[in-house]
Amino acid sequence: MIQVKELTKIFKDRKRGEVRAVDGISFECKPGRIFGLLGPNGAGKTTILRILSTILRPTSGTALINGADVVEDPLKARRQIGFLSCDTKLYGRLTPREMVFYFGRLYGMKEDAIARRAEEIFQLFGMKDFIHRRNDRLSSGMQQKVSIARTIIHDPPVMVLDEPTFGLDIMASRAVIQFIRKCREEGKTVILSSHVMAVAEKLCDEIAIIHRGRILATGTLKEHQERTGKEDLEEIFVHLVGEENGANIGH
Ligand SMILES: Nc1ncnc2c1ncn2[C@@H]1O[C@H](COP(=O)(O)OP(=O)(O)OP(=O)(O)O)[C@@H](O)[C@H]1O
Ligand SMILES: [Mg+2]
Repeated sequence: MIQVKELTKIFKDRKRGEVRAVDGISFECKPGRIFGLLGPNGAGKTTILRILSTILRPTSGTALINGADVVEDPLKARRQIGFLSCDTKLYGRLTPREMVFYFGRLYGMKEDAIARRAEEIFQLFGMKDFIHRRNDRLSSGMQQKVSIARTIIHDPPVMVLDEPTFGLDIMASRAVIQFIRKCREEGKTVILSSHVMAVAEKLCDEIAIIHRGRILATGTLKEHQERTGKEDLEEIFVHLVGEENGANIGH
């Protein structure tokens, strides 16, 4: 379960001055559900997910991960989270297998538990052919799979996924989507960001449309459709974001 209340993050940027990347956002993600953040470039998605995974401190507001406050109790919050970001770096000289084992040990897992879980993950993502090659010699899709593998080695109850299908081909992206669905079936709490409408439409139980650090609307696809009178998510998105842009003309 993730509970976010009045979350705000202001960056002090030398050129742009104060940037309100996240501006008083509140929402809840429940176990066994997939919550999607959908928004244009710069909307604040990555910033929200970084705060949830305790990499960034919020300027104000709170976020609880299964009851653990990301500011007050970051270690407890972090232990429950698998955080995947599209710019996660891999150790180039390690192999995928070494990398996954390394992270398993960091999470305090026993060797045989790591081996069992790693085997399951390598199988699931079709990684067997390249687990003994160096990370820096892998394609970007293969590297993304390694990032996912190391994110989930400790089988966390809460998954925080920033653009999880970014840079993947159709087959790899299907594998990731299947995996996210499996997380839902297992009762995990999943939050993901995307600007790929099809991913959000297919996958998310609830979608928050965010723009300029604010939530413009939250709900199931059906609720968005009823509220806007539009059929597909792209139209709904353009409708909401366009309305907001229009309303700002002249400010
Ligand atoms: N470290 C930082 N310092 C200053 N400004 C930042 C920093 N990180 C993010 N920002 C600004 O905060 C805003 C939100 O950025 P964020 O990366 O959260 O957006 P996003 O929704 O993930 O966008 P994208 O779809 O392009 O990934 C942007 O205006 C960005 O320039
Ligand atoms: Mg981003």
